[in-house]
Amino acid sequence: MNTAISISQLHKHYGSLHALRGINFDIPKASFFGLLGPNGAGKSTLINIMAGLVRATQGTVRIMGHDVRRQWRQARHSLGVVPQELVVDPFFTVSEVLRLQSGYFGHGRENQAWIDELLHVLNLSDKANTNLQKLSGGMKRRVLIAQALVHKPPVVVLDEPTAGVDVELRQALWAFTKHLHQNGHTIVLTTHYLEEAEALCEQIAILNQGQLVAMDKKSALLARYPYRLLRLTLTHSEIKIPVTLQEKVQSFKNGELVLRLHRDEDQIGAILESLRTANIKFVDLHTEEPGLEEVFISLTKQKD
Ligand SMILES: Nc1ncnc2c1ncn2[C@@H]1O[C@H](COP(=O)(O)OP(=O)(O)OP(=O)(O)O)[C@@H](O)[C@H]1O
Ligand SMILES: [Mg+2]
Repeated sequence: MNTAISISQLHKHYGSLHALRGINFDIPKASFFGLLGPNGAGKSTLINIMAGLVRATQGTVRIMGHDVRRQWRQARHSLGVVPQELVVDPFFTVSEVLRLQSGYFGHGRENQAWIDELLHVLNLSDKANTNLQKLSGGMKRRVLIAQALVHKPPVVVLDEPTAGVDVELRQALWAFTKHLHQNGHTIVLTTHYLEEAEALCEQIAILNQGQLVAMDKKSALLARYPYRLLRLTLTHSEIKIPVTLQEKVQSFKNGELVLRLHRDEDQIGAILESLRTANIKFVDLHTEEPGLEEVFISLTKQKD
């Protein structure tokens, strides 16, 4: 079987709120998989169901073939989850909490070398005997990552691991997850930094309002967007956009006007002519290929 995580007919109701509305998809083994979606889309709910922290209302999730409900132990052993919330136990030191977690998974002293390696890679060695309560947010995040990996799970799920994390740690985290991926781990990542998802993930699923709105290889997803973009830096930000251009506007803020160009027609000349007629001046212009951000916005924007 080539599937690491299999999600089938999954529904979650929180009272009257239908947070997951019949989700079906598979995450292949050894993939680097992005799970994206706006705030409230249901990403953490889905991850918490995988981790056994939230109970699905209907449907199944299997981790490496094990049903998270009926084969809970095997499913849990196959999975390491880095939660979005920074909840840590205030009574333990870093190394105590890792040893406890290791013990929970049935490991003994033989696992100490791996714990030491995790502390080293995550730059936590000098904090090993520090109480968790005394750590900064970024360091707590590192401890949560070490905790998720302590039993060497084949599938690692990271729920916004870089939220509120400084640039240096963010880069270190990506290098580390890439390393895990190269060593055969399946990585599932949620992030609101779309350029990071674009750089790292091979496959991407997009959730919106509890439904799966796209699930594809990154390249195929990017190719779906039918426009190129024309970005103009205007000399003035207080302008009225000519009627002829209004339907092309992708965004306009702080004097930066981004227009959509159909791939198959050359409209740049006509656009420049409209700007000239309206006496709108610019200091810079260039065309660009759309990124994941444009695809994401087009798939998740609210319909008025
Ligand atoms: N324990 C809960 N009780 C009631 N409603 C909840 C609970 N947890 C989540 N929700 C609701 O379910 C929906 C999905 O929330 P979820 O946390 O899964 O979204 P998310 O995609 O992770 O969002 P974010 O990007 O903000 O982390 C939201 O409307 C949220 O308010
Ligand atoms: Mg979330």
